[in-house]
Amino acid sequence: MTHPLSKKILGVKASPTITLNAKATAMIKQGLPVLSFAVGEPHFPTPQIVVDKAIESMRAGRTKYGAAGGGPELRKAIATKLERENRLKFAPEQIVVGIGAKEILFHLMLTLLNDGDEVLLPAPFWVSYADQVIAAGGVPVIVPVPDSFPANPFDIAEIEKYATPRTVAIVINSPNNPSGYVLNEGKLREIGAWLSKKDWWVISDEIYEYLSFDIEQKSLLEICPDLRDRFILINGFSKSFCMTGWRVGYGAGPQPVMNLVRSLQSHSSTCLPMFIEDASIVAINGGRELMRAEIAEMNSLRKTAIAEFEKIKGLPIVEPQGAFYVFLDLRPFMANTGRFKDTMAICEWLLNDAHVALVPGEAFGAPGFARFSYAVAEEKLREGIARIARALA
Ligand SMILES: Cc1ncc(COP(=O)(O)O)c(C=O)c1O
Repeated sequence: MTHPLSKKILGVKASPTITLNAKATAMIKQGLPVLSFAVGEPHFPTPQIVVDKAIESMRAGRTKYGAAGGGPELRKAIATKLERENRLKFAPEQIVVGIGAKEILFHLMLTLLNDGDEVLLPAPFWVSYADQVIAAGGVPVIVPVPDSFPANPFDIAEIEKYATPRTVAIVINSPNNPSGYVLNEGKLREIGAWLSKKDWWVISDEIYEYLSFDIEQKSLLEICPDLRDRFILINGFSKSFCMTGWRVGYGAGPQPVMNLVRSLQSHSSTCLPMFIEDASIVAINGGRELMRAEIAEMNSLRKTAIAEFEKIKGLPIVEPQGAFYVFLDLRPFMANTGRFKDTMAICEWLLNDAHVALVPGEAFGAPGFARFSYAVAEEKLREGIARIARALA
């Protein structure tokens, strides 16, 4: 007989977005004409100058261990970016760079949470937060999608109902994955005023920052600087610079917190490869300007996606202002057909019958919805929406 496995980790589920995409990929390998809109990455290649720098750096022998938490040059470049683009002052020591924003968030949860501590997750939220909280011994407190959604995507009064004396943190993510909402300055001000009266850690995931199309996404910390002692900013290179596979993300926050995050990394992944750091410096110094064409193209895809989905009767959508997803409201369809018990069942049916892969809203704490990524070539986008229209009809 073996010893029982970790109760904490048994509570963690595999990432459903990755599982679903794996199923779609397997079907494609079998020769089925599946179109996947399930994955969360821009379809553009990484900018050539970033790739070239990595190759040059590898050739120069920058292929050994780097510094835990990121080398000083990259952390300095990030501090400069935060000041230049976000008007935020962080010392390079307050910045930790890791293997994707995902790793930083994971180590952050381990750093912030004691057993039973509650973390507020207003739905819809990115799939991994909840499981990371569980793995860290905390309790994810999911605030269901409110009736006011999407008109009021971050309903403070509703969230307040889920706060308890055990609440220690809240996660805010704007531009939002999966629903594409963007919190504007007025709303950030309102959230800041509310959070100023709490003593919670504020985790602000700003990874889709460059993909905010109608308004500039400001950081909550710029709007509400008095949160600084308990504010942790999360960002990364995956979405902004089309570098998902490079695995570069960072966090910036209070020194004692970031010291522990760095220390945890020194015992897990150790560091980023140095040649990836060198290439990342080229990307971050290029900033938004480097990605101008891709951002414009993504905005054009967004407009096409909105226009095409709006033609489908009985399928309301959350009109996205940011990120690269359209959040489909399948509740009227479910009510009309009476055939499906949940959106997971609809997504399975769409995959098997219409050969279109979406991510069911259950993965984001939002049953009744499904996420469609429009970060694809325009032709594929149009064909995918046409297939959905035919299937729902
Ligand atoms: C909201 C959000 N945060 C964080 C991440 C993690 O990004 P990465 O680990 O690639 O930096 C993702 C990726 O899908 C995301 O959508």
